[in-house]
Amino acid sequence: MKVPISVTVNRRKYRKEVEPRLLLVDFLREVLGLTGTHVGCDTSGCGACTVSVNSKAVKSCTLLAVQVDGAWIVTIEGLSGVDEVLDPLQQAFHEEHALQCGFCTPGMIMAAWELLDRDSMPRDADIRHALEGNFCRCTGYENIVRAVRRASDVKK
Ligand code: FES
Ligand code: FES
Repeated sequence: MKVPISVTVNRRKYRKEVEPRLLLVDFLREVLGLTGTHVGCDTSGCGACTVSVNSKAVKSCTLLAVQVDGAWIVTIEGLSGVDEVLDPLQQAFHEEHALQCGFCTPGMIMAAWELLDRDSMPRDADIRHALEGNFCRCTGYENIVRAVRRASDVKK
């Protein structure tokens, strides 16, 4: 049995019928084709699947698609906008060399995006706290924190 849901993702409205057991991350990747959201673990440990749901950073492997019926969702694809100009966070990650393999990067940026949305001048401790659910196996985190700080300077 499928369940109808209606969601707005990256400013576009979708109406779909989904299996009740379908995870939000699989809905985004497989139904909507938004593969910028990554799956690193499937057990809520890594943060690679982080997206914004109603302005909260959420690990999309921890929610079912039916639970976001009516929600406003932003994924990494939605940050650059229609003109494809990079969001200050994306630009800062590029300029500060805050990624290597890039697997963690979409989730890292979406978690940081929520932080800067509620706090335009976070301290380094705030940045580290906001990103503590996101794992990076490559960078050692220093450049990631620097990139978020740089983006916050731009956004002030
Ligand atoms: Fe969701 Fe790892 S895939 S937390
Ligand atoms: Fe490779 Fe973070 S850049 S896991």
